[in-house]
Parts: sequence; C-alpha cells; structure tokens
Amino acid sequence: MKFDRHRRLRSSQAMRNMVKETYLHKEDLIYPIFVIEKDDIKKEISSMPGIYQISLNLLEEELKEAYDLGIRGVMFFGIPNEKDACGTGAFIDDGIIQKATKLAKSKYPDLLVVADTCLCEYTDHGHCGVIDEETKDVDNDKSLPLLIKTAISQARAGADIIAPSNMMDGFVAEIREGLDDAGFINIPIMSYGIKYASSFYGPFREAAEGAPSFGDRKTYQMDPSNRLEAFRELESDLNEGCDMMIVKPALSYLDIIRDVRNNTNIPVVAYNVSGEYSMTKAAALNGWIDEEKIVMEQMISMKRAGADMIITYFSKDICRYLDKGAY
Ligand code: PBG
Repeated sequence: MKFDRHRRLRSSQAMRNMVKETYLHKEDLIYPIFVIEKDDIKKEISSMPGIYQISLNLLEEELKEAYDLGIRGVMFFGIPNEKDACGTGAFIDDGIIQKATKLAKSKYPDLLVVADTCLCEYTDHGHCGVIDEETKDVDNDKSLPLLIKTAISQARAGADIIAPSNMMDGFVAEIREGLDDAGFINIPIMSYGIKYASSFYGPFREAAEGAPSFGDRKTYQMDPSNRLEAFRELESDLNEGCDMMIVKPALSYLDIIRDVRNNTNIPVVAYNVSGEYSMTKAAALNGWIDEEKIVMEQMISMKRAGADMIITYFSKDICRYLDKGAY
C-alpha cells in the first residue's frame, strides 16, 4: 500500500522550524492598560490576575516595563473620577485617557497609542452612547457627535490610531469626517465594527467599572450566532473608510477572523478579550494547564486564522516567552 509520509517534515526541531507556517512577533502585540484617575493606585483586578488599575502617577513605570520588553502598541482604558449621562469625561481635553496618551507620547514617541473611542466608561448608566429617555435604548444619531468629539480629543492628545468600539451605525464615516475636518487626515481608524455581544467581556467590566446599570448591549453589539452579519458590518466599515478591522472576541470567533481575512485586504486585528485572559489564568493558577504553552498556542491560532495583530492582556508575558527564543 502506497501512502503519504507526512512525518518526514516533522522529524526534528530544525525540520519543523524550517516548515513552520505561522509566527508571532512582538510587533504584532497591542497591550491594553487600565488607567485610573485617582492618585497612587495600583490595584490588581480580582478576575484578571496580573492586570491592574493604575494611576496616572504610576503609569510611567508600567509603560517602561512594557516598552523595555519590546511592546510598541498600547491601548488605554480610563476609569474617571466622575461620570455623567453623556460621558463628558471621554471627550474633555484633560480627561484621563487624554492625559495618559500625552504622558505616553512624551516619554516614548515611537510607542503607538491606540485610543478606544467609546463612552461606556464615562457614562453613569454604563452604555456606549446616550440614552433615549422614551425607549431606554441608546440613541444612535445623538451619540455620534459625542463620539466624534471623543476621537478628535484623543487625536489632539497624540493618539496614533483611533479605535471606535461603540458599535453605533455610521461611526466610521462620522469619525473619519470629524478627524479630517480637524486636520487629522493621517490618523487611521481601526474599527471594532465586528464586535459581538459577548459574555467574555465580563472581567473587563469589573476592570473598567463600566457594566451597564440596566439592560444589555444587544441592541448595538452583534448576535454571537451570526456570521453573515459580520460581512455586512465589514462592508459598511470598508465603504466608510476604515483602515483596519478588529474582530472581538477572538478565540470563539476564529472562523470570523478567517472570513474577514479572506474578504478584505486591510489589516485584521484579533481582540483577545478579558474573559479569554481570565479563563486561561484561572486554569494556569490552579496548575491545570501549562500557561506559557497554552497562551502561545492561543496566539498562534489567532494568527493562523488570519489576524495580523493581537490586542491581548498577555502581551508582557508573551514578550518574555519570545525572549527565550523558543517560538
Ligand atoms: C467598550 C469596550 C469593551 C471592551 C473593550 N472596549 C466593553 C464592552 O463592550 O462591554 C471589552 C474588552 C475586554 O473584554 O477585554 N469600551
């Protein structure tokens, strides 16, 4: 019986390295950091061991560690002192994110700051836009001007990439126009347009103190059952001028990452979200899995699915693993 000898290409480490198809690089990583407006805080998030809420006055230390490890992309999430109905803290020039961005860019000009453009961390009701009092739902068109203001203030603070995560219809078009009119024609938009209404965001909502106080986000985030809907979102965002596309969450949505990769030529970003981090950490801390091997296998799976970049809370750990040279 004649058959194929696949094992020929697996015979030694050198052979396996030679035929390896997928790599992860430090340049692929974007590291999210939670910045809290109150002073002198470095508080571990109980559901995300190893991840902290960090005050602005302690942020430099964290940035230095990340930078020295080789991270060149960060994303800030803000925990403001005050919240209100329209999320004012998101778009004031001395808002927490604006201050964190200025600090990061002044210390590390070549560190790319990705700004998450959303209102949910700044609204007292925890939704991503303003609430229509009659329907108790998020008012799409009334939220857009506030999101434009947020994006412009983030760009003015020095953000290199605007990443709108609010899931309002038309956000890419409106923010693009707003940025252009304000003179930021060269600031790219990394759209979170394919964002599912996922329970994997649970730990993030503790970390960013942004859980909705009523209802849920199902009227603006996508149904996890849907695939064609992702194509519709992708089509709109491409028409509206997005430069990069995020798929979020990542691990339960690898099929969607592959679909996006196969249907567009722009860079694709996987958001390895909080719940994915927490599950892996919990199992690792229990000694049930090998953390390093599992994390790297997860990262490679996102890249193999077609992601060019990965937003992940594991970024610092991954740099340490890569430094050992084993991957
Ligand atoms: C919204 C935003 C969320 C996340 C990133 N941006 C929360 C949400 O939509 O509820 C979640 C990220 C994560 O879970 O790691 N500003």
